[in-house]
Amino acid sequence: MNFIDLLFKIKNRLSKVIRHYIRKPFIGALGKGSNIKSGVRIVGNPYRLKIGKKTTVWQNAVLSVGNGEIVIGDNCSVSVGAFLNSTRGKIIIGNRVGISAYCNIYSCSFGFSDGGAWKDSYQVADVVIEDDVFIGAGAVILPGVTLGKGAIVAAGAVVNKNVLAYTVVGGVTLKTWYTMASK
Ligand SMILES: CC(C)(COP(=O)(O)OP(=O)(O)OC[C@H]1O[C@@H](n2cnc3c(N)ncnc32)[C@H](O)[C@@H]1OP(=O)(O)O)[C@@H](O)C(=O)NCCC(=O)NCCS
Repeated sequence: MNFIDLLFKIKNRLSKVIRHYIRKPFIGALGKGSNIKSGVRIVGNPYRLKIGKKTTVWQNAVLSVGNGEIVIGDNCSVSVGAFLNSTRGKIIIGNRVGISAYCNIYSCSFGFSDGGAWKDSYQVADVVIEDDVFIGAGAVILPGVTLGKGAIVAAGAVVNKNVLAYTVVGGVTLKTWYTMASK
């Protein structure tokens, strides 16, 4: 490692610690070693956001908590530009979950089946993402979905139904690709 690399390493370590202690009093929970990077926006009541240990929320992610709740476990990564919207309802995320860049996760949306105007018909249903799930870049997780332990969601998928444990899914009309050997 050269001198410049070393300087950046020290600077990054320091800013990680400083950002942790600046954010901590203004969030429901922020576990030891967790880091909220620059440009992350928390919208609504930040005390309804709870983050476990050693989790990183990367640059420009938006956590829109509103009157809902977002719970993120330990050792997770919420990547650049991800959008988690729990304006109503809950988004519950387990441990060691990878949420790639520009994913969208919603526990609330609008319902259209009653034929009313979109604004009159609110749809609220919790999203549960179990341990060890990986969600590829740009995937959209719609209200009411549970992603089972160890599931993988392909980049760009739109997930509108539950995904079983250790299953790989992808596509816009979601297809089960295969089941992995469970550990
Ligand atoms: C889901 C994923 C893990 C599957 O990987 P895999 O099992 O190795 O699958 P393969 O790459 O062998 O592809 C299998 C088939 O699915 C297709 N495919 C791969 N990824 C796809 C995607 N995201 N959406 C639609 N089809 C996809 C391939 O073209 C291939 O089709 P074919 O058999 O007709 O040629 C991977 O494709 C993926 O989407 N990874 C996410 C990567 C990412 O977002 N990284 C973020 C940065 S950390």
